[in-house]
Amino acid sequence: MIADLLAGWISPLRLRALGIMGMNRRNISYISRYNPRHRYPFVDNKLKTKVVAQKARLRVPDLLHVVETQHEIESIEARIKDLAEFVIKPAQGSGGKGILVIVGRDGDQYVKSSGTRLSLTDIKRHVTNILSGLHSLGGRPDIVLIEGLVKVSPYFSSISYEGVPDIRIIVFKGYPVMGMLRLATHASDGKANLHQGAVGVGIDIATGRSVAAVKHNQLVTHHPDTGESLQDLMVPDWKTMLLLASRCYEVTGLGYLGCDIVVDASKGPLLLELNARPGLSIQIANNRGLLPRLRHVESLEDHYLTFEDRVDYVVQHFRHYEPDGAGETVTEHAPATGVSA
Ligand SMILES: Nc1ncnc2c1ncn2[C@@H]1O[C@H](COP(=O)(O)OP(=O)(O)O)[C@@H](O)[C@H]1O
Ligand SMILES: [Mg+2]
Repeated sequence: MIADLLAGWISPLRLRALGIMGMNRRNISYISRYNPRHRYPFVDNKLKTKVVAQKARLRVPDLLHVVETQHEIESIEARIKDLAEFVIKPAQGSGGKGILVIVGRDGDQYVKSSGTRLSLTDIKRHVTNILSGLHSLGGRPDIVLIEGLVKVSPYFSSISYEGVPDIRIIVFKGYPVMGMLRLATHASDGKANLHQGAVGVGIDIATGRSVAAVKHNQLVTHHPDTGESLQDLMVPDWKTMLLLASRCYEVTGLGYLGCDIVVDASKGPLLLELNARPGLSIQIANNRGLLPRLRHVESLEDHYLTFEDRVDYVVQHFRHYEPDGAGETVTEHAPATGVSA
């Protein structure tokens, strides 16, 4: 079945029967119906997301500096001279575009996670490009965030290569409905974005255990760089992540949301960013479509559950593995290609 789907010859009718959601359905039935436009700025701008998250006492990576204008370029050197590790990113970027992960210094050079060295001039050019809108949505002028480097937790060190992994959780009306662990690869250059070549590992909502893994929409069983098996992974602190994701509903007022979490080696789970148009490849990595779960949540009466209650609900209802841990899957739906990442 999986091979058929990956071969790409399955009909749209069959995809629908399997509960796989495509881009049109996502945009029309979920994003435009459940995401009020005036709430978008809170998630489309990473600086605003940080402010809103901190007000709600959600933990986020440290913000070290903000660069807003070209006039400030000359002050970059002074701002980063004492920093051994940091991340430069566009406030309005997405898909890992324009993100520079600096993991160390070598004299006056800045070392990327791949080992590549950059000069101060390279860094300044990068900042100028971000400001001019090279990496932002619709090419709009942007601002630059300089964040503290999140350190890979020991649990993930053998399965994420040259970069911190992140955990994407789709939250619908406050219910976490599907999850995916994204692992950096050499190709993804310090970033755990699927479009950059990261590996996506579907994660069972009920248990935090891995389901299947994909790279560029193809199933894989091992990490391409480390060779580690991606089967039988268990994400630590999974319940904490579900609670954090569920809270993002009240914090943003967005009904259909992609919530990205990173785990810092010493600080634990942190909210990295939020997305009002989360991608659809998560369905392939989870071996099932989103639609049955979305419809399930839509069919619930609104009884104003707390975020804790919503998490308890999904843990009971959106289960991939049998509770006895026999490893047998309750396969509701199979994966498909032809969906956007
Ligand atoms: N502060 C950070 N420390 C370490 N890695 C980071 C940091 N910020 C981002 N990254 C890496 O870059 C990826 C993309 O970052 P993110 O902020 O989600 O931007 P985008 O909107 O482009 O996806 C993350 O999944 C992570 O691997
Ligand atoms: Mg992201």
